[in-house]
Amino acid sequence: MDEVERGRLAAYVRDEDKARFLLGATLVRRLLAARFSLPPASIVVNRTCPDCGKPHGKVRTDGAELSVTHAGDLVGVAIGDHPLGLDVEKVDPGIDIDAVARLTLAPEELRDLSQYNGIEKASVFTTYWTRKEAVVKATGDGLRTDLRTVMVPDGTHLVELAVPPGYLAALAVMSAAPPVVEENDATQLLS
Ligand SMILES: CC(C)(COP(=O)(O)OP(=O)(O)OC[C@H]1O[C@@H](n2cnc3c(N)ncnc32)[C@H](O)[C@@H]1OP(=O)(O)O)[C@@H](O)C(=O)NCCC(=O)NCCS
Ligand SMILES: [Zn+2]
Repeated sequence: MDEVERGRLAAYVRDEDKARFLLGATLVRRLLAARFSLPPASIVVNRTCPDCGKPHGKVRTDGAELSVTHAGDLVGVAIGDHPLGLDVEKVDPGIDIDAVARLTLAPEELRDLSQYNGIEKASVFTTYWTRKEAVVKATGDGLRTDLRTVMVPDGTHLVELAVPPGYLAALAVMSAAPPVVEENDATQLLS
C-alpha cells in the first residue's frame, strides 16, 4: 500500500471497516498488477476527491477504469476499459423503506414499489438503490446527485451481478456496446 492507503487504513476505528478497506485496496492493486504485469506495490492509484482534495474519492489509475464497493461481508472491485460503477448492498428489511424510498425513488418507481410488501419490498427497493448508486459511481458524482432523478442514461449499461443470498449488486458500464462481464471470486487473486 502507498502512504495514502496506510493513512486511510490507520484512521478507521472499527476493525470491520479496516478489513473492508484493506481488502478493497488489495484487490485493486492485485488486479492492476495482473493486468499490467507489475508488482502490486509499484501500482500508482489516485483517490483524490475532486471536491475537497482528501483521498476518499473514486479510485483512478492510468490505463484502466475501476470501481470499489463494500457491504457487510462483501467487497467487490470492478475493472474495465470504460467508466464503471459497482455497488453492493445488504437487503435490510429492518430499515424504514418508505422513508428512504421517498428520498431516492422517482414517482413511477415509488408506484412500482408500493405493490410489494415485506422482504420482497426490501429486495425491490435495494435493486433500485444498487442500480442508481452504480450509475452515480460510474460518473464519479456519487451521492451528491439527487437519486430521485437518476435513471439509466443513454450509453450506460446495467448488469445485475450474482452475489450471495441477502445481498444485491449492480454494475453500470458507460460504453457504446453492451459490455462483456466476467465475475470472479477473489480467492485465487489473494492466494
Ligand atoms: C461513493 C459513494 C456513492 C459510496 O457509497 P457507499 O454505499 O457508502 O459505499 P461503497 O462501499 O459502495 O463505495 C465506497 C467506494 O466508492 C469509491 N468512491 C468514493 N467516492 C466516489 C465517487 N464520487 N464516485 C465513485 N466512487 C467513489 C471509493 O473507492 C470507496 O471505497 P474505498 O475508499 O474503500 O476505496 C458515497 O459515499 C458518495 O457519494 N460519496 C461522495 C459524495 C460527496 O459528497 N463527495 C464530496 C465529499 S467532500
Ligand atoms: Zn471530499
